[in-house]
Amino acid sequence: MDKFIINGKQKLSGKITVSGAKNSALKIIAATILLKEPVTISNVPDLMDVRTMQKVLEKLGATVEYCKDSSTMKIDPSTINSYRAPYELVKTMRASFQVMGPLLARFGNAEISLPGGCNFGPRPVDFHLKAFEQMGATITTEHGYICAKAEKLIGNHIYFDFPSVGATENVIMAASLTEGVTIIENAAKEPEVVDLVNFLKLCGAKIQGEGTGRVRIEGVKELQARDFTVLSDRIEAGTFVLASLVTNSPLEIVGAPISALEVFLEKLRLCGHEFEVHQHSLVVKPSPNPKAIKFTALPHPGFPTDLQAPMTAYLSTVEGTSLATEGVYENRFVYISELNRMGASIELDGNKAYISGQEQLSGAQVMASDLRAGAALVIAALGAEGTTEINRVYHIDRGYDDLVGKLSDVGANIQRVKR
Ligand code: UD1
Repeated sequence: MDKFIINGKQKLSGKITVSGAKNSALKIIAATILLKEPVTISNVPDLMDVRTMQKVLEKLGATVEYCKDSSTMKIDPSTINSYRAPYELVKTMRASFQVMGPLLARFGNAEISLPGGCNFGPRPVDFHLKAFEQMGATITTEHGYICAKAEKLIGNHIYFDFPSVGATENVIMAASLTEGVTIIENAAKEPEVVDLVNFLKLCGAKIQGEGTGRVRIEGVKELQARDFTVLSDRIEAGTFVLASLVTNSPLEIVGAPISALEVFLEKLRLCGHEFEVHQHSLVVKPSPNPKAIKFTALPHPGFPTDLQAPMTAYLSTVEGTSLATEGVYENRFVYISELNRMGASIELDGNKAYISGQEQLSGAQVMASDLRAGAALVIAALGAEGTTEINRVYHIDRGYDDLVGKLSDVGANIQRVKR
C-alpha cells in the first residue's frame, strides 16, 4: 500500500488546476448505457473510481477507451450484452450501483451486487429500489445481488424522504427512457445532478426542474449519442482552497466552479478570508488572523458534506472554538481520532464536532479511513510542523487526480512512496 510523506509548513504559490468532477463523470459514464452509439466524454478525471466505472461498463460488454493525456473517454455501449455488475467491482465503489437505472430502462434487466456499508456508516439503497418498484420493476435479492426486472417501466410520482443524490440520478436516468411522466419530489439539487441532466438533455431527454426539489422527466423512445464535457470538481477545488488557507499562501485555482462553491466560500469569508473571482479562476487571499466559525454539512445548496472533513482539519488550526455539524451522514467523523493524533483538539458529541483551534499541529503517522478523511489528513499535514506519513492513500486515489503532482507544482513538499 502506497503512502504520502508530507513535510508541512511549506509556502505554496502559483496556479493549481481543477480536474473534472468525479461525482459527475461517474454518472455520465453510467448514463451512456442508455445510448446505442459511441460517444466521447471529455474532462474525465484520472481516478481509481473512474477506472472502476470503466471496468463495470466493460463487464457489461461495452468498449471503453480512456486517454489520460486528453482526459477523454470513448464509450461504445452498442455491444452491451450483460446486465450484471459483479461484487469485485461494486464492493470497491458504491457508485457502481448507478448502472441499475440505465440497465433497467434499456434492457429491462439489472443484477447488481448489493453495495456494503462504507467506512463512515451504513449507506442503504432503499430509495433507489422503492422508486424502481414504483415504476413497475420487480426486485429480488439473490446470493448478495439485487436483481431488478421489468418488462416495461412506467413513469410515476416518486417522493424521497431525503434528497439522495444517487437515487435522484438513478431515477432520472431510468425515467429518461421510460414511457410516461416521472416526477421526483424532494430531489437532490447538487451541481453534479444538473450536469448529468445537461448531458441527457443534449442527447434528447425531456427533463425539467433539475437543480430544484421537483424534477419532471417525460420519457422518450430513444436517446442520441452526443459528446459532452464534464463540469469541474467543486470538492477538489474546495480542497485546494483549504490547502492555500492552512499554509497561509495565496493560490490561484484555475477552473474552480465558483457558483457551486458559494456556501463554502461564504463560510470562509466569515473566517476573514478574501477571494477574487476571475472568469476562469479563483484567487484565494488568506487572512493572517482567521476567526473560528460554525458550519453544518447539508444537501446542496448547503455546505457540502464532502468538504466537512477537510474543513474541520483546517479549522483545527484556527484560534477559537469552531463547530462542525454533519447533517447528511450518521457517522462521518471517523477521521477525527487521526487528526487528534496530529495535535488537533476536537471533541465529538453525536453529529457535532467541537474544534478547539491549535497554534500548531505536529506531523505524525496517520491512516486515511476514507476518501475525504484522507483529504483532511493532507490539509492537516500541509499546515503541521514536521513530517506526516499518511497511510492507505488508495482512498485518496479514488477521488483526487494526481494530488501529489498538483500540490508539488505549487510548492508543497509531498511525495508518494510506493510499496
Ligand atoms: C453522493 C456522492 C457523495 C456525497 C453524497 C452526499 C457520488 C458518487 N457520491 O453519494 O460523495 O457525499 O452524494 O452529497 O456522487 N440514503 C438512504 N437511502 C438511499 C440512499 C441514500 O438512506 O437509498 C441516505 C444515505 O445513507 C445518506 C444520505 O441518504 O445518509 C445521502 O446519501 P446520497 O445523497 O444518496 O449519497 P450518494 O449518492 O451515495
